[in-house]
Amino acid sequence: MPYELKPLSCNPGTIAGMSEKIIVSHYENNYGGAVKRLNAIEQKLTELDWATAPIFVINGLKREQMVAMNSMLLHEVFFDSLGASPADAALVAMIDRDFGSLGQWATQFAAMGKAQGGGSGWVLLAWSPRDGRLVNTWAADHTGNVAGATPILALDMYEHSYHMDFGAKAGAYVDAFMNNLNLGAASKKLAAVMGA
Ligand SMILES: [Fe+2]
Repeated sequence: MPYELKPLSCNPGTIAGMSEKIIVSHYENNYGGAVKRLNAIEQKLTELDWATAPIFVINGLKREQMVAMNSMLLHEVFFDSLGASPADAALVAMIDRDFGSLGQWATQFAAMGKAQGGGSGWVLLAWSPRDGRLVNTWAADHTGNVAGATPILALDMYEHSYHMDFGAKAGAYVDAFMNNLNLGAASKKLAAVMGA
């Protein structure tokens, strides 16, 4: 059963400071490309003779499957993260407990994004069940989530996320992203992973 694109969860014409063109391009080309690539890899894995395949073929396909699958999943969280909406009381309380305040969390999260400017990767707000807490985590590529944790907010720092609108000004893109945070969607994801 091939993977299918999830519909674009944000309204691309209403994200202040970001053009509809860049969001639709990001959705169709980068997210869509990851899903297409994942399906092609899955097909190759289905056809693989596991008993005789060289290890470099197994390693290569399984590595690329991981990259494409996480690119698909993280892009879905990224598009869910756009579309200004407030956090519910549970998310506010959790952020207050784990970061001091919503403002302190946002300062840290934005600084992590700006620190990745000119490079590539992800900044994630993730729920870690080991300690029952939220953590801001850094990822240099699509494979870097904390083991066991669920990202509830994702900032894409790959250049394709901002270059069309902001050129090399990655910091201005991070500011625009922070002005459009869909904390309502993050609240729903947190409630889901906490079993509420
Ligand atoms: Fe992306």
